[in-house]
Amino acid sequence: MYKPVVDFIKSQFPSQDFIPLHEPRFIGNEKKYVNDCIDSTFVSSVGKYVNDFEKQIAEYTGAKYAVAIVNGTAALHMAMLVAGVKRDEIVITQSLSFIATCNAISYIGASPLFVDVDMDTMGLSPDKLKIYLKEFAVKKSNGFSYQKTTGQKISACVPMHTFGHPCRIDEIATICNEYNIALVEDAAESIGSRYKEKHTGTYGIVGAISFNGNKTITCGGGGVIITDNEALAKRAKHLTTQAKVPHRWNFVHDEIGYNYRMPNINAALMCAQLEELDSFLDNKRELSALYKNFFANGEIKFVSEPAHSKSNYWLCAILLPDKKSRDAFLEYTNDNGVMTRPTWALMNKLEMFKNSMCGNLDNAQVLEDRLVNIPSSVRIKK
Ligand SMILES: Cc1ncc(COP(=O)(O)O)c(C=O)c1O
Repeated sequence: MYKPVVDFIKSQFPSQDFIPLHEPRFIGNEKKYVNDCIDSTFVSSVGKYVNDFEKQIAEYTGAKYAVAIVNGTAALHMAMLVAGVKRDEIVITQSLSFIATCNAISYIGASPLFVDVDMDTMGLSPDKLKIYLKEFAVKKSNGFSYQKTTGQKISACVPMHTFGHPCRIDEIATICNEYNIALVEDAAESIGSRYKEKHTGTYGIVGAISFNGNKTITCGGGGVIITDNEALAKRAKHLTTQAKVPHRWNFVHDEIGYNYRMPNINAALMCAQLEELDSFLDNKRELSALYKNFFANGEIKFVSEPAHSKSNYWLCAILLPDKKSRDAFLEYTNDNGVMTRPTWALMNKLEMFKNSMCGNLDNAQVLEDRLVNIPSSVRIKK
């Protein structure tokens, strides 16, 4: 039954027997820049590539500042710390997300509170957020919002741009503003994705992007935070470099910091990958159009980019009619050389977060049951 799907996917990646979900492509100046970095001996946290990378990311995303970080999880941790999240506070996020979002919240000692996603964007739903806050949040005279039943401060909201599709981030920003909740964007998956022309990660006070090996562009492991707030960028740079007080030779540190700065050797790889980004995005968009056309008339629905947005189509996604057919599809494709994956188990079902507070999560449940990611790598053209 799913043979035509497997045949179609294989026809898009003809030189490969096994089709992975998302492979990196190193077809430009990667080796040149990495060799140059090695020759310079500046392979660690100081060097020209790490500074160049930050400049280029700021320019590309339109953010005023970028701070290079070792990976996306650490970037999210930093983003929430500098946004002001503290121990025992609440951070609202979506239950349909990768574990890193909740891990970063937990590193601070804060607790996630799960709100549903929209079916079309697969990202945090502004309508469901509004409903939750209206019922369960109270704004106190100090200007901050608190969860009514536990009395905990709701200090941040972390929507995620799922598989690269932007969520309704402007509406979420308006709601966060009204309740005085810091908006931190998990843009880990959405380098190159724009909502109403503005790059994802630039709507909130700070955004975090990942350059893990499975992402659209990668340096093995890497991340960045972007922000328009100079003080916040400075603080992030300070905290990620062991909170060392700048001095020519003295080692003095003024608070507990982190060894979170992206090494120059990774940044060298990033600089080369950034040169390829626009052509990778075109290539992936072309593949998404072919998938959309292929799935146009059957029972499997292709998930297109939402209104008002330009997605990077990091991982293409389809919806099967139900969980049973999803499982059959996963089994057939993975048995026949095509890597496909269901979405993540919902965060509120994991042992660590099963007692977390939740709103209604109907859409996330539908996506958990029916969504499958299909191969989405940049295709190499002869
Ligand atoms: C939604 C989301 N948040 C955070 C991360 C963490 O990024 P990293 O793997 O670079 O730590 C990832 C991906 O890996 C992700 O998909």
